[in-house]
Amino acid sequence: MSTYSLAVVGGDGIGPDVTQAALAGVQAAAHRYGFTVRTTIFDLGAERFLRTGMVIDENTISELREHDAILLGAVGDPRVAPGVLEQGLIVALRVAFAQSVNIRPVRLYPGIESPVRGVTPENCDLVVIRENTEGLYTGGGSLAHAGSGNAVAIQNSISTAAATSEAVDFAFQLAQARRRRVTLCHKTNILLHAGQLWQETVDRIAERYPDVEHDYVHADAMCQHLPLDPGRFDVVVTDNLFGDIISDLGATVQGGLGLAASANFNPRGSAPSMYEPVHGSAPDIAGKGWANPAAAALSAALCLAGLGEREAALSLETAVASVLAELPAFAGPEMGSDTAGLGHRIAERVSIVDPHRDGMGEKS
Ligand code: NAD
Ligand code: IPM
Ligand code: MN
Repeated sequence: MSTYSLAVVGGDGIGPDVTQAALAGVQAAAHRYGFTVRTTIFDLGAERFLRTGMVIDENTISELREHDAILLGAVGDPRVAPGVLEQGLIVALRVAFAQSVNIRPVRLYPGIESPVRGVTPENCDLVVIRENTEGLYTGGGSLAHAGSGNAVAIQNSISTAAATSEAVDFAFQLAQARRRRVTLCHKTNILLHAGQLWQETVDRIAERYPDVEHDYVHADAMCQHLPLDPGRFDVVVTDNLFGDIISDLGATVQGGLGLAASANFNPRGSAPSMYEPVHGSAPDIAGKGWANPAAAALSAALCLAGLGEREAALSLETAVASVLAELPAFAGPEMGSDTAGLGHRIAERVSIVDPHRDGMGEKS
């Protein structure tokens, strides 16, 4: 019987609640498919920072590295300056564990109504692949004359062929197993240096995948095409910041941030991958028990797939979709549902769904 070690970082705001609910689904899947998931809870996030003055230390990073995977809720707290936890924890871990590929599926599940007219499960099934360690997220730069009318901010953006190639290669591999189309999303018309590197990388890697078509869409135009014609896309590959923005847009198209999953994936297998919802800590609804745990549970399903437990992953995804289909409205306070209650329903459903007959099919 396989045993997996899972590091769990609930984090801030709604993070711990949605993570707890997702774990119920993971354990139900483990029980059904006969494997063991050993969890280690890590106390990281705003409370720890406010208590100790430290976001994370080298020892904790080493302990996290020993695990097979990491499940993260969300971080970010109004009591902490913007960026301290986001850059110091999430981005730091993505970089430390070489998670160069961020996988963000955009899928409208049957029974859920998209807020965008004309979007159906048949025409909304794409995956955003976001380079996850570089671009404007590297943190370098300076702010001269801060607070004065002469202030000048410089924010560096770094793109390397190495990390870009990992994301692009992953996008082509994924497309080969799907509908065989990769779309590069960038601003090559204005970000001339980074744009050229991205386009050249796509053109070079495309030669190794002659059966996969590729095209290009500017990031601003993507904000119209993605909601109005999602069926035109299969795999969209993009840089860190554009990927951050268009994946929230994708989340809206699929019913809301409460439904959008993501995987911070290390394609080399040299360190654990980290699974987390696209959404943040949602301070506006934290502590109310309203948060939709679907995004966290679907991220946990990606985690099970990443561990090689594909049947368990499909069962968890199917269970989430089937529970969601019974709810009246999603992804906001208006949902009027309870996080823990939904977690229990998802866990119960995991033991009875037939992932192949209940219509989810094989997906990445
Ligand atoms: P957010 O994603 O936390 O919330 C945006 C809106 O979506 C809010 O109205 C919120 O109530 C709603 N929402 C989010 N998740 C939901 C869920 N599961 N169920 C129902 N409604 C949900 O974004 P924000 O408000 O811009 O950011 C809040 C904090 O989270 C900030 O500190 C930000 O830096 C951080 N953040 C963290 C992550 C992460 O940890 N991965 C991601 C995004 C933002
Ligand atoms: C996300 C978040 C993060 C990002 C923040 C919290 C660093 O918005 O995972 O989408 O910008 O990548
Ligand atoms: Mn984001």
